[in-house]
Amino acid sequence: MRILVMGHKGMLGSDLVETFGRDHEVSGIDRDEFDITSAGDCLRVVEEFNPDAIVNAAAYTDVDGCETNRDACFAVNAEGVLNIASACRGRNTKIVHYSTDYVFDGTKGRPYVEEDPCRPINLYGESKRRGEEALLETAENHVLIRTAWLYGRQGKNFVKAILAKAKEEGKLRVVDDQVGSPTYSLDLAQATKLLVERDSRGIYHVTNRGVCSWYQFALRIVEYAQLSGVTVEPIKSHEINRKAMRPAYSVLSNRKFMEATRKAMRPWQVALNEYLTGQSHIHR
Ligand SMILES: NC(=O)c1ccc[n+]([C@@H]2O[C@H](COP(=O)([O-])OP(=O)(O)OC[C@H]3O[C@@H](n4cnc5c(N)ncnc54)[C@H](OP(=O)(O)O)[C@@H]3O)[C@@H](O)[C@H]2O)c1
Repeated sequence: MRILVMGHKGMLGSDLVETFGRDHEVSGIDRDEFDITSAGDCLRVVEEFNPDAIVNAAAYTDVDGCETNRDACFAVNAEGVLNIASACRGRNTKIVHYSTDYVFDGTKGRPYVEEDPCRPINLYGESKRRGEEALLETAENHVLIRTAWLYGRQGKNFVKAILAKAKEEGKLRVVDDQVGSPTYSLDLAQATKLLVERDSRGIYHVTNRGVCSWYQFALRIVEYAQLSGVTVEPIKSHEINRKAMRPAYSVLSNRKFMEATRKAMRPWQVALNEYLTGQSHIHR
């Protein structure tokens, strides 16, 4: 298949290029070659590459930044998706797009399934939900993958932030009242490839398996990285001043993905351990 990865320089995008590149003809584009907020750019790119599938990992991903840069965040996460879907109309190009656990309000107390109502509690979640709606209404052939708590080899992420702070200060304070599923972007890229190859359509929740708080996640990072003498203190969300609210419980059920592909995602601890022991591959 001819695959076009949008946002190929990002954390997930770089893993998508590597993963799809093993069996398919892959091209990647990023902000230096097109602006997803421009309908004209999106049309030009679709006509130029004429791919069988677009995998869109381009997004505005700074959750707190969205609260102060509302227009930029909605332009990329909502209008950008509409631009791609509109550019592909009538071509039967498959569009794979990513959304987030933050489209949910975090009050369910049990894993969210694909049909659960969305009630975002921050602007990032709202913009991603608007992007979902644009995709579902406009794209004829789409896969919408909701994921959560991503970390990977490229770009900034929670794992790298914890490693840096542990090494510099030896002391960490991490929230213990937000629960979710850490997900390795390479695992998500492989899951995406599976869904595309079996011509899946519709919404899928895909994360690594298992559940933890950010505090429990940080404990494992310190343990697997074999950093001794580091203390990790659990705190409550209200003790840190963040612009965006976060859902308290945003675990996503992977059941539909497992039934469709007959594959289970790895437990988050296994993926994290592999990521950290292959640390020489982590690019800043
Ligand atoms: N990170 C997470 O924890 C997380 C959790 C749940 C869901 N997701 C979703 O997963 C997907 C991938 O996330 P990620 O963390 O891998 O993203 P990322 O590392 O921030 O990469 C996003 C890429 O999109 C590019 N981009 C931004 N604005 C653009 C524009 N106007 N035109 C063209 N390209 C543009 C960025 O370029 P610049 O770097 O130059 O801005 C960057 O290369 C996103 O849809 C995100 O919402 C992420």
